[in-house]
Amino acid sequence: MSATARKSAPNAEDIRARKGGGPLVSLTAYTTPMARFMDAHCDIVLVGDSVGMVLHGMASTLSVTMEMMIMHGQAVARGLSSAMMVIDMPFASYEEGPALAFRNAARLMNETGAAAVKLEGGVEMEETIRFLVKRGIPVMAHIGLTPQSVNTLGGYKVQGRDDAADQIMADAKAIERAGAFSVVLEKVPASLADRITAEISVPTIGIGASAGCDGQILVVDDMLGFFTAFKPKFVKRFADLGDAAEAAIAEYAAEVRARSFPAPEHVFADQAPAKKGTANKGTGK
Ligand code: KIV
Repeated sequence: MSATARKSAPNAEDIRARKGGGPLVSLTAYTTPMARFMDAHCDIVLVGDSVGMVLHGMASTLSVTMEMMIMHGQAVARGLSSAMMVIDMPFASYEEGPALAFRNAARLMNETGAAAVKLEGGVEMEETIRFLVKRGIPVMAHIGLTPQSVNTLGGYKVQGRDDAADQIMADAKAIERAGAFSVVLEKVPASLADRITAEISVPTIGIGASAGCDGQILVVDDMLGFFTAFKPKFVKRFADLGDAAEAAIAEYAAEVRARSFPAPEHVFADQAPAKKGTANKGTGK
């Protein structure tokens, strides 16, 4: 299924042109209703592979499949008309080489209508990013803490402290050379994020990075308080909807057990009520 093109949404070049301008606003989404809520407020909506952890209860993003990304991508596309949709390439769908990456990126875009893909990695992905961009696939890169490499990074730690900062700067420059239109910087020191933002010509989108980045992104379930398994320091809870949902469910359970729900206004009579304006028409009664 190919999603219909969303004409008013910004494209990769529009986003690239925002470098150094007003901050880009971005959130993740995985469902149609959530995409609808954010469409008018976000420049970019990312169908993140974080879906595996926040909606499917997986321990990491490593088990997320192409099929999951396509299903959630199609759902998000139905809810967007003015934000750009970017979709994550899941683990093992691109690392092996440019040709595999192209096949899977093209499939993600064809089957969901996403305008670009995101993939994790810097210097080691330079050739792949260049290959994709030259063949019509806009790429958002993701460096710093790259969750798909959690097993080789030794956990979800801050990246780029001390000497490791040079490697992350090299990653950012490789991505810029390869033609990516933007780069996510995750969980790096603010001073490093600021230096990268100053030194590369493509927008940086921070998550646990710096207010000086060209934009910000958060996982929507984190910022709304739906995902409560843990809360990284960089997450600000803008609402506690998880608590509100649990309270509502507890109230429903209590009312069902007390037989106070459903109430008379929620049940049906034997006869349909007369339609307004038809009963006693013309009699004045
Ligand atoms: O999958 C995701 O949600 C992401 C964001 C954290 C940037 O990659």
